[in-house]
Amino acid sequence: MESVEGARSFITSGGAYDLFMGRYSRPLAVTFVEAAGVSPGARALDVGCGPGALTGVLVGLLGADAVCAFDPSAPFVAECEARHPGVDVRLGRAEAIPFDDASFDCALAQLVLHFVTDPQQAAIELKRVVRPGGLVAACVWDFGEGMEMLRHFWDAALTVDPGAPDEATTLRFGREGEIAELFSTAGFVDISEATLTVESHYQGFEELWSGFLAGIGPAGTFCLSLPADRCARVREELFRSIGSPSGPFALAATARYAHGRRST
Ligand SMILES: C[S@@+](CC[C@H](N)C(=O)[O-])C[C@H]1O[C@@H](n2cnc3c(N)ncnc32)[C@H](O)[C@@H]1O
Repeated sequence: MESVEGARSFITSGGAYDLFMGRYSRPLAVTFVEAAGVSPGARALDVGCGPGALTGVLVGLLGADAVCAFDPSAPFVAECEARHPGVDVRLGRAEAIPFDDASFDCALAQLVLHFVTDPQQAAIELKRVVRPGGLVAACVWDFGEGMEMLRHFWDAALTVDPGAPDEATTLRFGREGEIAELFSTAGFVDISEATLTVESHYQGFEELWSGFLAGIGPAGTFCLSLPADRCARVREELFRSIGSPSGPFALAATARYAHGRRST
């Protein structure tokens, strides 16, 4: 498969991803599956599965035989397969989903839509792979206000570099109505929106900071692009921004959620 632009900063190990983002996406997957109303007996697709946070929740509910997953990052596909034996995990992208027409009762994309190069084409593909009446659901962090880790980071980065690529302005689908509008344009019916909030606990500031140094996603990529002195200034600003913690702390994260149905 050709290189997928949105996956370039996700060619990394599952372990490194977990320390940075998986710590949020695991609890998020539980609330995401609840909001989508996925119930035993369904066949489900995890779209842009990463190392498999959502895949794991779906397997717990539906069994490995009823779950499929795909991602354009080869190391994530390998990790998801290793973590969830029996799940059909494939290399692929949302604009050309590597599964047959009408093969799922539901397709769920957790923290993926904002990285997809052609979301309109992805919505058409999501509609193709669910059966008539099937459910498509997506969630994306609210970068503007709701995702504390990334909000604090970009606020710190902007003090050092006013041109820093703050995800609140560079990425879509983190604001109310944006996922719903995509689904509506693609012809989904029974569209509904919600917010999903989780939190992650850190033993100390170094645990938070080391996540950025792994170079994952736009924040990690930006961090690694900085000369050492400016990177150190972002670190200082971030430490101050989260209240100069001397011990454990927690950060909350809110995602925008929407689902819709393929008409019957
Ligand atoms: C923030 S991670 C989310 C991973 C996982 N869903 C989770 O919740 O932990 C974003 C994922 O989107 C994938 N991705 C990027 N572009 C994509 C595309 N065009 N189609 C499908 N997935 C894509 C990346 O490879 C990465 O695994």
